[in-house]
Amino acid sequence: MDWQPLVDAARRAREGAYAPHSGYRVGAALLAGDGSVHAAGNVENGLLALSVCAERLAVAAAVNAGRRDFRALAVVTESAPPASPCGLCRQTLAEFARDLPILCVNEDGERFETRLAELLPRAFRFEEARRQA
Ligand code: THU
Repeated sequence: MDWQPLVDAARRAREGAYAPHSGYRVGAALLAGDGSVHAAGNVENGLLALSVCAERLAVAAAVNAGRRDFRALAVVTESAPPASPCGLCRQTLAEFARDLPILCVNEDGERFETRLAELLPRAFRFEEARRQA
């Protein structure tokens, strides 16, 4: 897997983040099955709980563009070590992907690779939960 185009897209998206309250900018880029890339930066709100993570906005962009078949996710932060997606974003990704390679990168080039199934084992899936009820 050549991560560079996805990392570049996440880095560009991070530049478009709106994070005046925390000052913490995040960029995320999703690769879809057709090769298209869907990227976003986090968008904050003065009512802090309304802030939306870059990863969930990237999911929204992909889904609204008709892509639900995610192949990989790159996340760029300034954290050392690089930060990984929050719990809400993990569950949001799990709606569309059972497993997904995820690369977490920081602006110094530090990186680690993980997978959605490792970050969120036994994710809640409504269809499966309902079948067992
Ligand atoms: N944030 C993300 O964009 N992704 C994450 O996975 C964790 C946190 C954003 C939300 C908020 O704008 C800022 O980082 C601080 O929490």
